[in-house]
Amino acid sequence: MSLANVPSVLLVDDAHDMLEMLRRSMNAMGLTPFTANNVVDAIELVEHGPVHLVITDLNMPEVSGIQLVRYLGEHFPEIPVLVITGYPKLEDAVHVMKLGAVEYLVKPFTQQELRDAVERVLSTLGGRTHQPAAQEEMREHFHGILGRSHPMQEVYRIIDRTPNNRATVLVTGESGTGKEMVARAIHYNSTFSTAPFVAVNCGAIPDQLLESELFGHVKGAFTGAITNRVGFFQAADGGTLFLDEIGNASPAVQSKLLRAIQDKEVTMLGATKPQRVEVRLISAANNDLAAMIRQGTFREDLYYRLNLIHIHLPPLRERVEDIPLLVDHFNQKFSKELGKRSLRIPARVLETFACYPWPGNVRELEHLVHRLVILKDSAAAMDDLPAHMKMEAPRSILPDSMMSLAEMERQHIRRVLEAEGQNKTRAAAILGIDRKTLREKLKGLG
Ligand SMILES: Nc1ncnc2c1ncn2[C@@H]1O[C@H](COP(=O)(O)OP(=O)(O)OP(=O)(O)O)[C@@H](O)[C@H]1O
Ligand SMILES: [Mg+2]
Repeated sequence: MSLANVPSVLLVDDAHDMLEMLRRSMNAMGLTPFTANNVVDAIELVEHGPVHLVITDLNMPEVSGIQLVRYLGEHFPEIPVLVITGYPKLEDAVHVMKLGAVEYLVKPFTQQELRDAVERVLSTLGGRTHQPAAQEEMREHFHGILGRSHPMQEVYRIIDRTPNNRATVLVTGESGTGKEMVARAIHYNSTFSTAPFVAVNCGAIPDQLLESELFGHVKGAFTGAITNRVGFFQAADGGTLFLDEIGNASPAVQSKLLRAIQDKEVTMLGATKPQRVEVRLISAANNDLAAMIRQGTFREDLYYRLNLIHIHLPPLRERVEDIPLLVDHFNQKFSKELGKRSLRIPARVLETFACYPWPGNVRELEHLVHRLVILKDSAAAMDDLPAHMKMEAPRSILPDSMMSLAEMERQHIRRVLEAEGQNKTRAAAILGIDRKTLREKLKGLG
């Protein structure tokens, strides 16, 4: 769709006064508004286009705005969608951001907030590269994050949704799965990547210091406050504040954070006036926040505020097809650092890696490869692996077990097919052979 000089905006809301207010605002911004008071009419208008932007309420009788976002995501992925939602319905916002909405506004909002959101969305027009999922290519890495497995493709796809908005992101996953890497990737992939990325470990700051650490203090606010000092929020203004280990934030800190998010402003300790701050918040947790909410140790309202977009990083044992890629990367990286040739890693060692549960995930793998590169000169061997890891090696591949190459190949092909849900195209790609060869091998091996 070519962009006309004046972008046209489709406004969808069942409430007449809201529609009228939106229409006037769009006119005032020099845009051409069209209106629809239900989803069916909205789709009709989009089909007859051109529509450059859709602003829709989520909560409508009959067909909900969620259906509209889904439809647009599937049929008109190039049209950005701004959704409007009421606070108790924030879970829906989480859902629609995943379906393809690029911005959301929580009711009630000011004219200025509406204008800012529309401008942000319009600034992305023409730069959108969304493709229908079916055409999406397999990526092996993204901003330094490595992985070609399906869960990692999903992670890249969600990060692709984040560059032009400041929706909060919650990254969950076991220790060492790459949560901080993902947070940095989101920041450096965003339109505000030149603004600061500030990381705070919420569990590491004592309660009595946290307020001044987060929000800053003015001179004389307490004994020892000899100068004005900005907090993490002000330091990250315009950029990203990464709240690591959010599950360890004390109740006092949780309520302060909630207020800062709701009001979009913070008050320095000892100051009389609040300051407006514009930060994207990314939080990370390796504990089960849902369980903490049930136990009453984590605030549900804060959880929904932080979790507009959710990225879950699966443990390494659930994406073993990423292991060879990671091993290769760390092998090259550490060898280069030490000025050595990279190590040969025998198939037996890789097989053992595939069976080991990796409680420390990618970090554990990284450390192990680092150690092997330091200790060895040409090749790693089974004997170099820690004892607890060798125990995990399947019996059939332990050194004392004799097996023909054909048998080994048969077992390996079966394992890869299983891991890829019997998808031959993906299995062939992992095995480094074409589909035809794989078919022949399957026939030959019975
Ligand atoms: N997909 C990946 N590709 C490359 N390196 C990775 C990947 N995932 C993690 N790493 C590496 O593993 C280490 C741990 O990553 P990171 O600090 O992001 O994990 P984390 O989930 O924040 O862990 P923790 O919960 O312990 O803080 C880092 O050195 C990072 O470079
Ligand atoms: Mg971390």
